[in-house]
Amino acid sequence: MVGMAIVALASALPNLAAHSRPSVGAQATSEKGAIARQNALLLGAAWYPEQWPESRWEEDLRLMEAAHITFARVGEFAWSRMEPSEGKFDFDWLERAINMAAQHHVAIVLGTPTAAPPAWLTQKYPETLRIDPDGRRAEHGNRQQFSFTNPRYLDFCRQVASEMAKRFGHNPNVIGWQIDNEYAEPSYDDYTKQLFQQWLKAKYGTLESLNDHWITAYWSQTYDNWSEIPLGDGPNNPGLRLEWMRFISHSWVEYQQNQIGAIRPLADKRQFITTNLMGFFEGFDQYVVSRGLDLASWDDYVGEGQVNPDMNGLTHDLNRGLKHKNFWVMETQPGAVNWAPTNNFLNRGEARAMAWQAVGHGADAVEYWQWRSALNGQEEYHGTLLGADGTPVPFYSEVKEIGNDFAKIGDDFRGTTPISQVALLYSYDSRWAIDFQRHTVKYDQLGLLRDYYGALRKLAQSVDVVNPYSDLDAYKLVVAPDLNVMPEDLARHLLDYVRQGGNLVLGPRSGMKDQYNALLTQRQPGFLVDALGGRVEQYYALLKDVPLSGEWGKGDATIWAEQLGATNPGTQVLLRYGASNGWIDGQPAVLTHTYGKGRITYIGAILDGSLMAKAANWMVRESGVTPAFGPVPDGIYVSRREGAGKTIFVVINFTREERHVNLPHAMRALLAGREETSLDLPAYGVEVFLEH
Ligand code: GAL
Repeated sequence: MVGMAIVALASALPNLAAHSRPSVGAQATSEKGAIARQNALLLGAAWYPEQWPESRWEEDLRLMEAAHITFARVGEFAWSRMEPSEGKFDFDWLERAINMAAQHHVAIVLGTPTAAPPAWLTQKYPETLRIDPDGRRAEHGNRQQFSFTNPRYLDFCRQVASEMAKRFGHNPNVIGWQIDNEYAEPSYDDYTKQLFQQWLKAKYGTLESLNDHWITAYWSQTYDNWSEIPLGDGPNNPGLRLEWMRFISHSWVEYQQNQIGAIRPLADKRQFITTNLMGFFEGFDQYVVSRGLDLASWDDYVGEGQVNPDMNGLTHDLNRGLKHKNFWVMETQPGAVNWAPTNNFLNRGEARAMAWQAVGHGADAVEYWQWRSALNGQEEYHGTLLGADGTPVPFYSEVKEIGNDFAKIGDDFRGTTPISQVALLYSYDSRWAIDFQRHTVKYDQLGLLRDYYGALRKLAQSVDVVNPYSDLDAYKLVVAPDLNVMPEDLARHLLDYVRQGGNLVLGPRSGMKDQYNALLTQRQPGFLVDALGGRVEQYYALLKDVPLSGEWGKGDATIWAEQLGATNPGTQVLLRYGASNGWIDGQPAVLTHTYGKGRITYIGAILDGSLMAKAANWMVRESGVTPAFGPVPDGIYVSRREGAGKTIFVVINFTREERHVNLPHAMRALLAGREETSLDLPAYGVEVFLEH
């Protein structure tokens, strides 16, 4: 019966197909014959059949189907059911669950169970357990207790992944794979330390080179032997610490590749491979880890409070930028979580607004974690779609509404993705480098990124967040709020962009470090000083705000101020500091200079909100950025997806009051099913417009 229902499930990946695997849907359809055609937007739930008697599964799946839930993620913590004892695999139950799901048009994303090793494994092979920074060995009873570099653990992981792929790599109801679950915890064991030392040796070649780049003459840090080099946690040399973070990223890549290598040869090409990432989690470089994946996906949790649309939109855009294409929301909260200080519930309608926001930013799937709580276990209080009694909780009705929406108009999104004129540069090297040495506890890089993002998005209504090394040619405006680590090759890449007509705006602390986290011998912005025609003379962590005035109007510098100096008569000063500590009084805070066919601007201060808005206005005007949609009232959030000859707008009212929105011209309101030139959107209301 497996073949039934299912094929449509391959075509459940239209936007994947559109962006990366052109023939997937079509091929599967012709092999098996189309059954019910699946939507371009998928709605999912995290389902744990191993926690329930099989007699219950049918009812679960019936309720999923009734809510238009089109996929379930299963398996990611079920290792002890899949391999009840060493080398003895049991996938029969899983196959029955997958096939039963197919009959309900519920496709499956299979999670490899490696975030939760069975007790027999860690008991027999304690070296597979993770060591905490304080030297303590993790124990069974929680999850993520494994050491990510341990060869024996990697063998077990490869084996279970490969056994799963043998069994399900050609199952037509399996549309993709999730490797592990939320990589997070490195291990501080001796073996990891040796690997780190070997990795450094391969990278630096000689200890002279390493000593030289880390300036280990400082505090007698000089290394005479690779085995002397410690793990890079804690108050250590910034060069060492940066390399440690890069080594962790590299180790997660190896960890992931170990399983991808097991699955890929045994799986249909149409099955994608992803892992669920964690927003702005900075424990490894997500650009690096995403390279080996077909698809980026992330877990979108609000925790305490209500959703902050800018922060959430920014995080979606980070994830879209990881692979420069549409992504999935692999988990999101059904109302409340169980791990925030106060686990308040999302307001009615807020989750639907969030689901549509995700789609507007390029998500092709939204999955709720979880379907139903295990009756015991650490997460008994977490939000669900069903109660402990197995019947829907009130929140289920909101998910069903989203399911209806997706079923009704999801297909219109086929082949579309957001396209932006503005890019924000986000770099893990810079994030780590600044966080190691913030200089003021108030220096909050995510806050700064969000401030730039919020101000720019309000005007442009579409912003990409990308790795600084990305191809930037398509952008009219590129903004780097604090690109601290800027080696020469990166500076050259940015200069190429500007020379050809790009507009580059750098924020404070930019261009200060080389790739070893050592200070550059040029003043900031390092290799861009000549092109800017100016430089940072000195920097100041502020106890008090400092007034600013100039072409962008008046306002304050907060937290951070750099005294700039023009080195070229053609350099223009856009803002100057007012009275402060005597050093910066009257000195330039913002410089701008043309270079090639473009322009470089350096903002040396953290600007207050109103000045940030004015700065964004200037940037957008100067670079000719046009809004994706047009003016909208405060609290109305617009996104645009384009492609396949279509332009679609998602318009959301994130406030708790009705708002009137005028459209730039008549468009088809897809949810309402009629032509509109304006509309009244209720609290958390959503409408989707097709331009024609
Ligand atoms: C995620 C995790 C899930 C679940 C969820 C609860 O981080 O991947 O397994 O624990 O949090 O909010």
